[in-house]
Amino acid sequence: MCGIIGYCGPKKPAQVLIEGLKRLEYRGYDSSGICVNESANQLCIIKSKGKIKELQKKVSPQLAGTYGIGHTRWATHGVVNDNNAHPHKGCNGKVAIVHNGIIENYEKLREVLTEEGHVFTTETDSEVIAHLIEKYYTGDLERAVKDAVSLVKGTYGIVCMHADEPDRLIGARNGSPLVLGIGQNEMFLASDVTAIIAHTKQVVYLEDREVVNITPTSYVTTDLNDQQIEKDIEQITWELQEMEKNGYSCFMEKEIHEQPEAIKRGITGRLSLEEATAKLGGLNLTTKELIQIERVKIIAAGTSFHAGMVGAYLLESVARIPAIAELASEVRYRNPIIEKNTLYFAVSQSGETADTLYAMKELQRKGATVLGVCNVVGSTIARESDGGVYIHSGPEIAVASTKAFTSQITVFYLLSLLLARLRDMSFENGTKIINDMNSIPAKIDKILAGKNKIMELAKKYAHYPDFLFLGRGINYPVALEGALKLKEISYIHAEGYSAAEIKHGPIALINPDTPSIFLIPNDSLREKVISNMKEVKARKGKVIAVAVEGDKEVSDIADDIIEIPETHELFYPFLMVLPLQIFSYYCALELNRDVDQPRNLAKSVTVE
Ligand code: G6P
Repeated sequence: MCGIIGYCGPKKPAQVLIEGLKRLEYRGYDSSGICVNESANQLCIIKSKGKIKELQKKVSPQLAGTYGIGHTRWATHGVVNDNNAHPHKGCNGKVAIVHNGIIENYEKLREVLTEEGHVFTTETDSEVIAHLIEKYYTGDLERAVKDAVSLVKGTYGIVCMHADEPDRLIGARNGSPLVLGIGQNEMFLASDVTAIIAHTKQVVYLEDREVVNITPTSYVTTDLNDQQIEKDIEQITWELQEMEKNGYSCFMEKEIHEQPEAIKRGITGRLSLEEATAKLGGLNLTTKELIQIERVKIIAAGTSFHAGMVGAYLLESVARIPAIAELASEVRYRNPIIEKNTLYFAVSQSGETADTLYAMKELQRKGATVLGVCNVVGSTIARESDGGVYIHSGPEIAVASTKAFTSQITVFYLLSLLLARLRDMSFENGTKIINDMNSIPAKIDKILAGKNKIMELAKKYAHYPDFLFLGRGINYPVALEGALKLKEISYIHAEGYSAAEIKHGPIALINPDTPSIFLIPNDSLREKVISNMKEVKARKGKVIAVAVEGDKEVSDIADDIIEIPETHELFYPFLMVLPLQIFSYYCALELNRDVDQPRNLAKSVTVE
């Protein structure tokens, strides 16, 4: 949510900032802006409503400078227009800031500053930071930033510059991510590593209430009491090439196709046929502690929550451990009870989702052990959890999550296997799970090879206004995920339900204009779902069924069928979700939507 970047060094800052903002655009894309020192002691701010390409049109490639800051916005306070876009400045135009987060006491601060003569020109909460820094500035920007942020309540990742302190940037963080990039005679600050990976792979992650003072050749990290903090330099493992579209028309299409490889990466080195179990090094728990687990609770948001629901189902059915997935945003404010021998998982692709992060901190504060299931290495949840598992799906750029979902559930298959084998699962059954898991990537490839048929169906159905997605058991969360995907990128109204629940309400919606997508694997609930499908057909509802290839009974009833390969009944979520992702993708294309950057959404939601 909101992307920020800062640069000081020998390259033209405007170019570095705009290129970085393009990579951060998935964090927010309603408006953007940059500030550079155009000439000595003179800051130049350029802003634009809309995508980064609109900003780029306004910025001359010749624009000079040696340091600068940039921002891509996802509006919280104030409408979307050029004026409310960042960077913001104080009254004399010498201080400029970019901010990601929410300043909760901005109204009070603004009132006081206005009484003192400061004139505000935007509707944003962020502008108060610029005026506060201006107020406290007496020739030392770092000092002024520290004085300013100590008055601020809320969350911030900020980068600031001052016209009188050339080639210096100050970054500060509390609750919103900020990473320092160390280059050759150049330094970067950014919300995440994607913005700077083209220039350096050496990074330092800032923690809450830390401040960093950078010049092209130096950086010093301190806390708000000026205590110097020694930070470890870490190496980014992602490659720049992984962040390119590589011939695909958009990132979502690319990421859908990357799933077989991403799953393979997630299981590589983690499955042992000799012991018929999984090995997950980062859990930081002894075998004894793993055996003592009596219950598992999973917290997450969005697609990660749906993956968590699949995970909970697996942990119960495979490992026989009571498990539940809950929305992180609800857990945090429920004053959760921490039960003995309960293990928590915080699932988050980005590792930065505010709802998940704060719920995790609340649980930890009450003594819970919370493990992270994250994709982004070095993200806040990954660093602040008590251990965890990386999903290793590679950078996910499209706002609608696809490969992270299948990689997250992969981790839960491994975890369930590991815990089951420590309890009462036999060697033989463990081996079977490993073999089934290993067969999944090839089965996904097969579904991808048949995507043209799904494209034709999307063309046929994309103009219907409402959809129901219906599944049962372990595929119920997949139905929820299918509905979410369709809503997110095509803006078609869709609801996900357990197929059994339709008779308790949703069946009232059935009419010839409301198609239902039924998930019908070859499992123990198959007959029941077929009955539900017949109930819909009896009410003149159109039905698309996702079913196992050759299922004549289903194809005779459904209007259209999407065939998937057969697998063990626990593994259908992998094969069921693929057609739903592809269907949503093609519906969005048919409706001319911006697939990678759907309206109003952001990939990484770092505000509550
Ligand atoms: C946002 C994104 C979703 C994502 C959710 C959780 O809403 O648009 O695609 O599923 O956040 O994100 P996380 O990074 O925690 O998995």
